Amino acid sequence: MKPLVNKIVCIGAGYVGGPTMAVIADRCPDIDVTVLDLNEARIAAWNSEELPIYEPGLAAVVSRARGRNLRFVGQTEGAAHVAAADAVFISVNTPTKTDGEGAGKASDLRYVESCARFIAAHATGHTIVIEKSTMPVRAADRIKSILASAGPGVTFDILSNPEFLAEGTAIRDLEAPDRVLIGGERPEPIQALAEIYRRWVPAERVLSTGLWSAELSKLVANAFLAQRVSSINSISALCEVTGADVEEVASVVGTDSRIGPKFLRASVGFGGSCFQKDLLSLIYISESYGLTEVAAYWQQVVDLNQWQKHRFADQIAAPIATAEGSLRDRRIAILGFAFKKDTNDVRETPAIDVCRRLLARGATLAVHDYKVTPDSIASEIGTQGVEVATSPEAALAGADGVAVLTEWSAYAKLDWARLAGILKAGAIIHDGRNIVDATAIRRSGLGLRSIGKGERHVR
Ligand code: UDX
Ligand code: UDX
Repeated sequence: MKPLVNKIVCIGAGYVGGPTMAVIADRCPDIDVTVLDLNEARIAAWNSEELPIYEPGLAAVVSRARGRNLRFVGQTEGAAHVAAADAVFISVNTPTKTDGEGAGKASDLRYVESCARFIAAHATGHTIVIEKSTMPVRAADRIKSILASAGPGVTFDILSNPEFLAEGTAIRDLEAPDRVLIGGERPEPIQALAEIYRRWVPAERVLSTGLWSAELSKLVANAFLAQRVSSINSISALCEVTGADVEEVASVVGTDSRIGPKFLRASVGFGGSCFQKDLLSLIYISESYGLTEVAAYWQQVVDLNQWQKHRFADQIAAPIATAEGSLRDRRIAILGFAFKKDTNDVRETPAIDVCRRLLARGATLAVHDYKVTPDSIASEIGTQGVEVATSPEAALAGADGVAVLTEWSAYAKLDWARLAGILKAGAIIHDGRNIVDATAIRRSGLGLRSIGKGERHVR
């Protein structure tokens, strides 16, 4: 039987749309996949050898499918592809609103709505429209009302197919997902999309629910993950004052099969484009239904994260600040700017808050990262008082203090016996990820402060 979906379009060639479509095209050579984006420079990069995002394994997947059944085109050229498509994914960004009703909390759906208008203007016959972007619950209602403006004879089904990939492991997560979720109103379009995923995902992992449950499940999954990080980070502070070790506590707690070991790594704070945005969206939705206790509960996950970032910055400052609290003439090495390892993404990275807080007190920062570009760093924290270092050594030279903010594997292998000589005497390493070689640091006569480790660990 001829598959129902032969031609797919995805609007939005970002961290989600690009890798997701590349894997679909790779796994389904008979399905024609077109990814379109308003940003022509991004499209040019997808068509080059220098892909716009860094993601392990992505280049190989793209090179297998691009030019065969995968193409990246600008929005204008995309119209004809939408007209011919059986299914159109919406994978544009849904940032937190900065103005109007719900500013600072609600997700901004203006890009999603403009995609819906674009689809309504160009679609022909019947098209399945798929929400890939994370949406507030009942967003499909708004998409539906826009699609209703399409011409006579043009019909749609709407599905919610939220993405659960994590950056840095996106290809692995797409190729072997815990589950694929498809929410919809009619079985036929759900089956048509499920059939695509079932080509490489075991059938029992392809779940289907109602539309609203699918939309809400994505928000809730991210909220639960973020909550685990805030939970362990709250305990990290308690460990530091009591002399307990958060890694020991997390490993004991995680052996309870009801709790499980994942997402219990204490850190300088969670970052990334999703956790805070999705928590705020959940809080806003709860408030708008009058559920103030529910909203307050989730707000605390956000607040704790903010507190953890500030707490970490203040710990760096404390031993080197003047009596007035100034960090003028103090040089601090920042190792890692990305929000986690194996990505060049800096959206909501904890490094932003930590760096801004130190800069505000007059510090000079020497920032190193393996994948983040100097432009990305400048766009988040400016250039005043900020030096971008091309190696960890260059960042560490002459530093009064060191902050490890991203868990890049190479930072775990730094040779502290050698590096101790280039740091200022008495410099303390503040490990926001608990990855550095603690024994080597102490043996080299340097100070070490690890997240969630009691005083016995500090020199
Ligand atoms: C995704 C999801 O879509 C978002 O809802 C989720 O919460 C985070 O992950 P992501 O792929 O990370 O977003 O966003 P981004 O990398 O910013 O990519 C979005 C792309 O859409 C950009 O390249 C942007 O240029 C494009 N875009 C945006 C359009 O093509 N048209 C628009 O109207 C708006
Ligand atoms: C997240 C979800 O994991 C993914 O399912 C969803 O689709 C998008 O949002 P992502 O933000 O890419 O993915 O990365 P994730 O691995 O979840 O990490 C988020 C943040 O939490 C990072 O800053 C990370 O360093 C931090 N984190 C994670 C911790 O501090 N401790 C942990 O134990 C786990």
